[in-house]
Amino acid sequence: MGSVFPLSLLLLLAASYWRSGTVLGRRVRRAQGPRESPPAPSGTSASFWVRINPQSVAVRPGASVWLNCSNNCLLPPNSSLHTQLRRGKTFSGPGWVSYQLLDVRAWSSDVRCFVTCAEETRGATARITTYKAPHSVILEPPVLEGGMYTLRCHVTRVFPVGFLVVTLRHGSRVIYSESLERFTGLDPANVTLTHAFHAGFRDLGQPVTCLARLNLDGLVVGSSSAPIMLTLAWSPASKALVFTSIAVLVIILVAVGTAYLRRCLAMRSLA
Ligand SMILES: *[C@@H]1O[C@H](CO)[C@@H](O)[C@H](O)[C@H]1NC(C)=O
Ligand SMILES: *[C@@H]1O[C@H](CO)[C@@H](O)[C@H](O)[C@H]1NC(C)=O
Ligand SMILES: *[C@@H]1O[C@H](CO)[C@@H](O)[C@H](O)[C@H]1NC(C)=O
Repeated sequence: MGSVFPLSLLLLLAASYWRSGTVLGRRVRRAQGPRESPPAPSGTSASFWVRINPQSVAVRPGASVWLNCSNNCLLPPNSSLHTQLRRGKTFSGPGWVSYQLLDVRAWSSDVRCFVTCAEETRGATARITTYKAPHSVILEPPVLEGGMYTLRCHVTRVFPVGFLVVTLRHGSRVIYSESLERFTGLDPANVTLTHAFHAGFRDLGQPVTCLARLNLDGLVVGSSSAPIMLTLAWSPASKALVFTSIAVLVIILVAVGTAYLRRCLAMRSLA
């Protein structure tokens, strides 16, 4: 519960079951550095490498992509590309081959490039994903509990989640931002972000918004929730506390009043 663990962040991810296209390969690759072939066993040319660039790219469904597979083979190498995507043009130069892939529609495709140099074959893998802008971004009315507002933002049917950044703003101030890099699911998913924060009385006039952005190597797509004003809407727990306090106060007043009344009556009967 947000009130028990302030600043707690809950992320719920549910993979949607609707897909389009084929999913080629289920390996999770998250390395950001060059995706190189593993070191060669001793005795072979340890310095032979194969790289693919870019290693991870997200494109609009139906777009084409260029992948550059390079190597440092000094002999005439033999290179090939393994993919189920449709191929377009191929260009090559010394130590590299650039492949075009057309009409990418699969949510996620692993494309492998193999290079054979002096009878040794090495490969490198790139992941191409198509993106899906959030279907909706909904900020629930904030709940005030234990002096903290719990903000809950739902982002539905977005892909790839690993490229998603969810930001909560209060007025023009960013109160929380989370990059979901660690999520590598291969289907559109729903994401719920929960964040608890303190707001003073002077913050009440400012709207809170939730922004969901896909940051796709230079291309940014996203949407924002409707703004919501912070109100003093009380949670059932705080309401219960307030009612209990009022009840206790009333009992005390009644007790004091009764005692006073009794005393007055006693004084009057004495007089
Ligand atoms: C994602 O959210 C949408 C809209 O609320 C819903 O229709 C869909 O079933 C959800 N998908 C999953 C996998 O929870
Ligand atoms: C492919 O990569 C190589 C090595 O990084 C570079 O020299 C070459 O210009 C690139 N080719 C294209 C078409 O980008
Ligand atoms: C180069 O690759 C082609 C197609 O993959 C293959 O038929 C050929 O035998 C290869 N040649 C060498 C020298 O590896």
